Amino acid sequence: MEIINRRQRMFSISRKLRRDAKTVALVPTMGSLHAGHLKLVEEARQRCDILIVSIFVNPTQFNDKSDLEKYPRDLTFDAALLAEYDVDYIFAPDVEEIYPTGFSTYVNVEGVTEMLEGASRPGHFRGVATVVTILFNTVRPNLAFFGQKDAQQVAVIKRLTLDLGFETEIVVIPTVRQKSGLALSSRNTLLSEEEFQKASVIIDALREAKIAFKKGERNAAILTEIVRNRISGEPLAKVDYVAVVDRETLQPIERVGDEEALIATAVVLGGVRLIDNVILNRKAVDWSQSCI
Ligand code: PAF
Repeated sequence: MEIINRRQRMFSISRKLRRDAKTVALVPTMGSLHAGHLKLVEEARQRCDILIVSIFVNPTQFNDKSDLEKYPRDLTFDAALLAEYDVDYIFAPDVEEIYPTGFSTYVNVEGVTEMLEGASRPGHFRGVATVVTILFNTVRPNLAFFGQKDAQQVAVIKRLTLDLGFETEIVVIPTVRQKSGLALSSRNTLLSEEEFQKASVIIDALREAKIAFKKGERNAAILTEIVRNRISGEPLAKVDYVAVVDRETLQPIERVGDEEALIATAVVLGGVRLIDNVILNRKAVDWSQSCI
């Protein structure tokens, strides 16, 4: 496993990999790796010749400066972990490699970035779309892996991949959860012991609504209310939003039809903002299509 810091070196390796007709998978991360990331790495490993994990704490996607400063960074620990997973390259550039002096080009995905997380975190998706574009252009992966927990990020990246014509297949891996059901997230480490225990109310609420859906409830307002009521029963938790939306466009839905939809929520627990979602009408995934 080689750790690459320079963008030029990454360019020349990816050029060679393309010449050699290798299937390249990229798992983009901001480090501070947990079992959710490792699941992406495991899945990616099975579907490519060469596996590249990027570790870059992307400043342009943080709208809160102190959030960026607080973000945990430990490349040595992350690299030791990835070495166990048969990763070929870690791409871990400095900020100046990605955003050199004078940098002034940003990628703005319209529509899917405007609601949910986009409404609460202005500029966040511009930063995500910009860095993912730079990573895709540098690594030129055949496949790139993302987690379903960040459902809006997935929708944004699928949109930009299509719009900018990247030949990269976006593979979405189901959310990895604690035993309690709480979705794994780097932010969970910021919760107190009590908040951590109570945070499973988020998935309990989403699952309650999904059960109602399975029993025939199609009215989005009622499904939303089920989630709100359950979470409101937990005094430590404060709902930011609950929404029933189309899985791809993220447009709100009034009645759920046959298309894939999400019930998505953001909840603040003791100052920590957590997001999660469940999929309604999930279509079967044909994994055989994901490998070249
Ligand atoms: O999901 C993340 O960790 C980040 O948003 C990503 C995709 C690596 C871009 O910085």
